[in-house]
Amino acid sequence: MQKPGRLQLFPDSATIENNALSIGGHELADLGGKFGTPLYVYDRATLDGALSRYKAALKTSYPGTALVTYAGKAFLCAAIAKWAHDQGLWVDCTGPSEIARALAGGLPRANIVVHGVNKSDADLELAIQSAGTLVVDSLSELQRLVSMLRPAERSRRPSRTLESLWLRLQPGIAVQTHHAHTQTGQAESKFGMTPDEIIAAAQIASGAGLRVDGLHFHQGSNFRETAPLVRAIHIGLDLAKEIGLRDRWHFSPGGGWGVAYCEEELPDPDIDTYVQAIAGSVSRRCRTIGISLPVLHLEPGRSLMARAGVALYRVGAVKRRSHGTWLLVDGGMADNPRHALYGARYSCLPAVGVAREMSEEVSIGGQYCESGDVLVEDLMMPKIDEGELLAIPVSGAYQISMASNYNGACRPAVLWLEKGRARLIVRRETPAEVCQRDVSKF
Ligand code: LLP
Repeated sequence: MQKPGRLQLFPDSATIENNALSIGGHELADLGGKFGTPLYVYDRATLDGALSRYKAALKTSYPGTALVTYAGKAFLCAAIAKWAHDQGLWVDCTGPSEIARALAGGLPRANIVVHGVNKSDADLELAIQSAGTLVVDSLSELQRLVSMLRPAERSRRPSRTLESLWLRLQPGIAVQTHHAHTQTGQAESKFGMTPDEIIAAAQIASGAGLRVDGLHFHQGSNFRETAPLVRAIHIGLDLAKEIGLRDRWHFSPGGGWGVAYCEEELPDPDIDTYVQAIAGSVSRRCRTIGISLPVLHLEPGRSLMARAGVALYRVGAVKRRSHGTWLLVDGGMADNPRHALYGARYSCLPAVGVAREMSEEVSIGGQYCESGDVLVEDLMMPKIDEGELLAIPVSGAYQISMASNYNGACRPAVLWLEKGRARLIVRRETPAEVCQRDVSKF
């Protein structure tokens, strides 16, 4: 049976029993009471479900080898990296801490892909030491990499050699996203290299005896139209031919597939449609231009993670004003800056008393000293009292990973819900941890 609208935004295992919201067999009210708030919970069944849709669609629609690389920037900790490893995924890491988390989760170096804009020499060195694949974003990075990999340089330091070197293309084609700040593939963006720069990069690499064996682009995040993606795929494959990529070569059209955040955005964009558009256009274009099929890499973050996560807050003050009601909660932009950054829209249900009539329009504000510290704007809710628990769905991606210590906030605890068990996978940060880098004697 189809779940009622707002409940569809919650994880697959979400149920309402005795008027209370449960996920993975756990009443959210119990979890909030036991672990405190703000609290993030992840439902393993939802993660597994999204991943199996990716895997099944790739199996039926791509005739070559295809791999799913989880974009760790959506949310990474050791437990998520272990989940990714257990599922046979690769992990896309940006920056040293994401690499450390991937390694802590047991990822072998071959399954770590290093991305990032403007990598420092230290970033490049770390990638050489700990990753299987490095994606070069600019000519400057490539030139620095070439000098770092010179035999004379390498013999002075303990080293390994990179298994795979990819170039990041700026396809110059925009995808439609909710906010300009989540577009990356358009002309003039700061990401990647133009087609001319890619050709120059291939020449520099070959002149230095380095084999480039992959091409990548990422057009943006949270889109649901496949036409611009297919155009970019054609540009990428034509360029791959031009720079001579062949024989077990890699092609990664990034991630970016969207999800629904609120009832107006339902249904969720279909993962099958996305994968088929990629797999079909890659296979057809390769045949048309006469190049061998690449190992195809998809890099989803949000469409795997977002709906598996729910953020739980406790309401403190309720302010009823002539223009509407403020429900003020114990978190906000420090754990979820997405409304402040992109005007992102969210929905919400109370953890208890779910079936009450939706009688009041509310906005849910945080506890931080900014007017922009808002989580949800203008949403119909039941009449909520102080002390109630609120659950915000679709909170699994780009919230914890973008959390800050603004106003001295301690970053929330994270739970993993699986087969009736609730396990802490990230402890709540303490004030002492927030202050620990301060130099006390100066
Ligand atoms: N690959 C690369 C190279 C990326 O930069 C990203 C996301 C992905 C894959 C995964 O994209 P996804 O499937 O998650 O859309 N903070 C923004 C999103 C920024 C995405 C950055 N790159 C937000 O909260 O909407």
